[in-house]
Amino acid sequence: MKKSKIEYSQNFLFISRDELIKVMENSLSKRRLKHVLRVEKTALKLAEKYDVDYEKVSIAALSHDYAKERPDEEMRDLIISENLDLEMLQYGNNIWHGPIGAVLMKNEYHLEDEDILEAINYHTIGSPKMSLVAKVIYVADFIEPKRSFKGIEIARELADKDLDEAIGYISSHTISHLIKRKNKIYPRAIETYNAWVATGKEENDDSFIY
Ligand SMILES: [Fe+2]
Ligand SMILES: [Fe+2]
Repeated sequence: MKKSKIEYSQNFLFISRDELIKVMENSLSKRRLKHVLRVEKTALKLAEKYDVDYEKVSIAALSHDYAKERPDEEMRDLIISENLDLEMLQYGNNIWHGPIGAVLMKNEYHLEDEDILEAINYHTIGSPKMSLVAKVIYVADFIEPKRSFKGIEIARELADKDLDEAIGYISSHTISHLIKRKNKIYPRAIETYNAWVATGKEENDDSFIY
């Protein structure tokens, strides 16, 4: 399928791209909808570069923040009723909205494709193993054009050269940001970091404190 003319095949979703955008328009603020559309655009560029399925990438990008503006109470109930990791209850919306977005897209729109669900689920904190679609969404969400903070240009350059290196950079950036702010770190964020960044370093660095 050509990127310039994305029409959904209905292999993954029974609604069209326009209808999916309407769903997001009804669930998200204008500001967040614009972010979602920029993530789709950025993700499709990456999909072209790294030869990833455009339709899957478009669906995942447009849906990735679907749960972001749901009330906390509803999110907590879903974590319990959907048998998600109960440890999530000690965190907040940032950690919840990915996994819950995947659950809602599955329950409400019968989205079953594992690559797409994984991309929605993992978009904030990544995972040691990620499908290509998940990698593209994780990176696109971080580098979309309106993002501006220290280090963003490095992330954009890496994304242009090597998707896996971009994932490592983003994972490190996220962890150090959380440490600087003395925020709690959800364990899978550390697993992501270990898998994509701190690979095989253990023996070399034993001169430090432990
Ligand atoms: Fe998000
Ligand atoms: Fe996002």
